[in-house]
Amino acid sequence: MSLFSDNLKGKVCVVTGAAKSIGFAIAEKYAEQGAKTVLIDIDPLVVKSAEELCQKGYFAKGIVLNITDRDAVLKCFAEIVSEIGDIYALVNNAGVVDQRPFEQNDEAVFDRMFKVNVYGTAYCIQGAIESMKKNRDGRIINFASKSGKTGSALMAPYSAAKGAVIVLTQALAYEYAPYNIKINAVCPGITDATGVWSNVSAGYIDNLKLSKEEVVKKFTAKVPLGRLTDKQDVVDFVFFLTASGDYCTGQAFNITGGREMH
Ligand SMILES: NC(=O)c1ccc[n+]([C@@H]2O[C@H](COP(=O)([O-])OP(=O)(O)OC[C@H]3O[C@@H](n4cnc5c(N)ncnc54)[C@H](O)[C@@H]3O)[C@@H](O)[C@H]2O)c1
Repeated sequence: MSLFSDNLKGKVCVVTGAAKSIGFAIAEKYAEQGAKTVLIDIDPLVVKSAEELCQKGYFAKGIVLNITDRDAVLKCFAEIVSEIGDIYALVNNAGVVDQRPFEQNDEAVFDRMFKVNVYGTAYCIQGAIESMKKNRDGRIINFASKSGKTGSALMAPYSAAKGAVIVLTQALAYEYAPYNIKINAVCPGITDATGVWSNVSAGYIDNLKLSKEEVVKKFTAKVPLGRLTDKQDVVDFVFFLTASGDYCTGQAFNITGGREMH
């Protein structure tokens, strides 16, 4: 599916975790549509990723930022607004996963899962919200997961953090609806050729003592539409929520081929 809209031309759209994978694919889509696209990541690769988009003639800026550092996040968003313009869209895609038997999760694991997936998402929203309130317009798309709807075995801290992202989304959708800011979450299923799936499949290989092929077969078999999620499935849905989707807020949309149905 290829969607097009003029709605994003010249608008500032910020994507976190955009050095690679799903985040980069979303940033590329925004840039192609004429948005002033800001790519944020803790990985310095993000600067090169943004340059790649600039070389195609698009407007893109790469910023190295750890989204768990609240002061740095607020400073960074203030600079984006003063140097590039008011923020129209924020995609909180940056996230980390971890997989191990529950009893082996120590404080450091819980901290990491919640600091990046939940606190980082919250801080970036705090950074972007003022310009959206001022303009009485804006879109925020938070990355939850299928595991945030129905928790995944061996991934309890991740599941709990992604569940928190869904409820954060609902609370903020209520809070900012009077400003016409639409805030939704997406809940992808296992998305092929990404960092999270590479980590998770490595975890299953280790914890379930299966080969990679067996892991892929086992999890594909659970998907009614018979395949894993593709990055493009996620990009198209996020783009819809950014450029259209005018009557949607507070939702947590499954992009799972029917694997998750509530
Ligand atoms: N891939 C999947 O199967 C899948 C399924 C469901 C949900 N998700 C969610 O989708 C999002 C993207 O997943 P992905 O597989 O593309 O991930 P990925 O690991 O490929 O990329 C995530 C990016 O986030 C960045 N990041 C991590 N910590 C950061 C921090 N503190 N500050 C700034 N950037 C940071 C990483 O450097 C990386 O570039 C995540 O939120 C993930 O939980 C992924």
